[in-house]
Amino acid sequence: MQIFTVVYLLGLSLALQNVHCFFVDTAAHPKENSTKRKHKSDDGPVVVKIELGQSLNTISPHFVGVNIDSDTVRYHWQTLDFSSQKLQNLARALSPSYLRMGGTSADGMNYFMGNATAAGTQVFNAGHHVAKPPFNITADQWVYLNEFLRTVSWDFIFDLNALKRNADGSWDPDNARQLLQFSADRNYTIAGFELGNEFDIYRSEYDVTVAPAQLAQDVMTLQKLLTEFPKYKSSFIIGPETAYFAPEYFQAFLAAGGYKAVHAASFHHYYLMTDEERNLQHFTDIDMMDTMKAHLDEVFAEVRSVDPQLPVWLSETSSANNGGLAGLSDAFVAGFLWLDKLGVCAVKGVETVMRQAFYGRDYSLVDGDLNPNPDFWLTVLYKRIVRGAVFNATGRHDVRVYAACANTDNFKAGSLVVYMLNPNNYSVTFDLPQFQSQSRLVYSLTPGDSNGLISKFVSLNGVKLELVNDELPDLKPESAPPGVVTMDPYSYIFVVFPEAKISICLH
Ligand SMILES: *[C@@H]1O[C@H](CO)[C@@H](O)[C@H](O)[C@H]1NC(C)=O
Ligand SMILES: *[C@@H]1O[C@H](CO)[C@@H](O)[C@H](O)[C@H]1NC(C)=O
Ligand SMILES: *[C@@H]1O[C@H](CO)[C@@H](O)[C@H](O)[C@H]1NC(C)=O
Ligand SMILES: *[C@@H]1O[C@H](CO)[C@@H](O)[C@H](O)[C@H]1NC(C)=O
Ligand SMILES: *[C@@H]1O[C@H](CO)[C@@H](O)[C@H](O)[C@H]1NC(C)=O
Ligand SMILES: *[C@@H]1O[C@H](CO)[C@@H](O)[C@H](O)[C@H]1NC(C)=O
Repeated sequence: MQIFTVVYLLGLSLALQNVHCFFVDTAAHPKENSTKRKHKSDDGPVVVKIELGQSLNTISPHFVGVNIDSDTVRYHWQTLDFSSQKLQNLARALSPSYLRMGGTSADGMNYFMGNATAAGTQVFNAGHHVAKPPFNITADQWVYLNEFLRTVSWDFIFDLNALKRNADGSWDPDNARQLLQFSADRNYTIAGFELGNEFDIYRSEYDVTVAPAQLAQDVMTLQKLLTEFPKYKSSFIIGPETAYFAPEYFQAFLAAGGYKAVHAASFHHYYLMTDEERNLQHFTDIDMMDTMKAHLDEVFAEVRSVDPQLPVWLSETSSANNGGLAGLSDAFVAGFLWLDKLGVCAVKGVETVMRQAFYGRDYSLVDGDLNPNPDFWLTVLYKRIVRGAVFNATGRHDVRVYAACANTDNFKAGSLVVYMLNPNNYSVTFDLPQFQSQSRLVYSLTPGDSNGLISKFVSLNGVKLELVNDELPDLKPESAPPGVVTMDPYSYIFVVFPEAKISICLH
């Protein structure tokens, strides 16, 4: 999203000022509005209550996915070494996973698979000041990417260029057909497709408007195109991929028949977009976390008004838009908004959440040197620990508490996981009366070095997580005796109860 470049730069300088403050005086960590913050550590334990009789959602193995922006093909291809064993190890650790390649540049991408005759007409106002010129993805690049996905067992979702248009304004599928033919010839599995990116802000990005009803028509054209290929006739489509949850565009797309063509209604979300928001304090701000709840309530209301069953996907999402915030989106503190977003999405019924980005810019899970950022480790742990039914957990308004079945790949059937965030500068004790007498396995995540919230590293149970000879270390829990759970200031934790025997988690 380029339109926030100015905001981004402003935000970045503000963020850096805040980072500076943080070093100088940790006690000055600003919480301007403390109406929700009256609790302190001496207020006694947070009593956690979990409704175990009813599942609100199901966390599938693919609940958390990742993105690589289409921009990467255009600008950063040379730096992304798909043949790197280290990169492959990191990617495999997240598998099974969707990898979505999409973004603004998807709508400038020509598929040049050795034959330019089908490239079609790119609708584009090249004179517009932020417009990005079209570019080619070559057969070699496409092969390289697809072979990588095969190697690491990721499931591909590809965002097709929607700005190939006929004179009558309808989508021209010829270049997409050429790409599919090339891919089918090589037996590349493509799990899903999208058509275009963030149409609700196209005017800003490309100075082109595609009406929601037209997009719905175009997605139906894509649906027909897929039926031409036995290899892709069962692939799904998601859409409309709006930049925000733009109610008018989103709803109009679905209502115009889009809901029949897509497997899921999809939209993008970033928390920190204005200059006031783009700073350290908002990364641990519970009011900011709560905006996601209201947001999802609106999304579901819109989707349900059209279709009672249609899944909802958050297909591109991160802490801050426009690349994230250097020193924050790639630091320990980013885990608060990320883990909380996964928790809120789980509770509200979202089927899939795809992190922007696996690789590329400051919000990535893996940095430019292919080293994991703290959110990489958090994402791996989430996938290994959380799987299955989601339960309603309640705690206290200064902390966050979520509960789900524990992943039976790694834990006994019937196990429960409670994951909790303490985004405060005081420690918090949790009392879980339903499991008071049970032993538990604890994964406690704290900053990996003395930089605190802005640490580039994360510790698991006090041990800094790092690759060992390019391999992941064992991510082992600590056994803990029955009783209360005490969380450090500014930390997050997964607590697994292997003896819980939760009936919904038994099958
Ligand atoms: C925690 O934050 C509050 C409010 O900003 C501040 O008054 C207090 O001194 C801080 N405590 C510590 C231990 O940093
Ligand atoms: C603090 O929060 C309250 C309640 O949410 C709100 O009414 C008030 O305007 C906020 N104050 C500031 C300074 O943001
Ligand atoms: C290129 O496209 C033309 C026209 O569609 C077709 O006749 C030709 O066979 C294609 N060549 C290759 C190598 O795909
Ligand atoms: C893309 O490929 C076409 C051939 O189809 C070529 O004419 C054009 O120059 C290429 N564009 C870039 C940016 O390489
Ligand atoms: C093509 O891919 C499918 C799915 O991965 C696989 O089952 C099949 O064996 C492959 N076919 C060939 C000819 O490699
Ligand atoms: C979860 O429990 C709380 C407290 O009992 C209740 O207010 C809330 O509506 C419940 N949420 C869901 C989704 O059931």
